[in-house]
Amino acid sequence: MEYCDNFDKLCEGLEGAGAFLVVENKKGRVNVMTIGWAQAGIIWGEPIMTVFVRPSRYTHSVLESAAHFSVCVPRRGEMKKELAFCGTKSGRDYDKIRACALKLKEGAVKGLKYLDGCGLVYQCEIYGRTDLKRETLSAEALEKYYPGADAPHTLYFGKIIKAEQFK
Ligand SMILES: Cc1cc2nc3c(=O)[nH]c(=O)nc-3n(C[C@H](O)[C@H](O)[C@H](O)COP(=O)(O)O)c2cc1C
Repeated sequence: MEYCDNFDKLCEGLEGAGAFLVVENKKGRVNVMTIGWAQAGIIWGEPIMTVFVRPSRYTHSVLESAAHFSVCVPRRGEMKKELAFCGTKSGRDYDKIRACALKLKEGAVKGLKYLDGCGLVYQCEIYGRTDLKRETLSAEALEKYYPGADAPHTLYFGKIIKAEQFK
């Protein structure tokens, strides 16, 4: 049950400066975006990490044809500049790996990369996806998070194939 360990650290990262969502496209180009929304738990009898990505993100277009992603959580107070950059700049305009001098590591399977230097890493295989629909959300959620015409988030369910803590 190593995927359940360190849940507090995952939440601490998400509630703080965020975590990195790392996805590789079909050509082997890797993009990183900062996330603050994610859920880890058991679905379909499997350990699942669900990430919430707005359709307007470049990462969304990469995830649409990807088979894997990783969620990389920096240790408390670390990599704040990188999280801020990857959470405000788009992979459409920047090679964020290069701009932030991030180092990639090979994951457990081809097409899965994660970031060196993070305290907690979840390697995931995409198990399913679904789009949040405006008509299924509360008035409060719509007002707070989707006031404009921006489409609500897509949820990507990633089966956790490896969860590791790095000291
Ligand atoms: C702390 C923080 C948390 C964020 N969380 C999310 C999130 O969970 N989902 C999302 O779609 N965007 C989130 N964002 C916004 C994206 O990281 C941002 O729009 C980013 O530039 C998208 O990069 P991309 O276009 O390369 O995909 C967050 C930004 C910050 C700073």
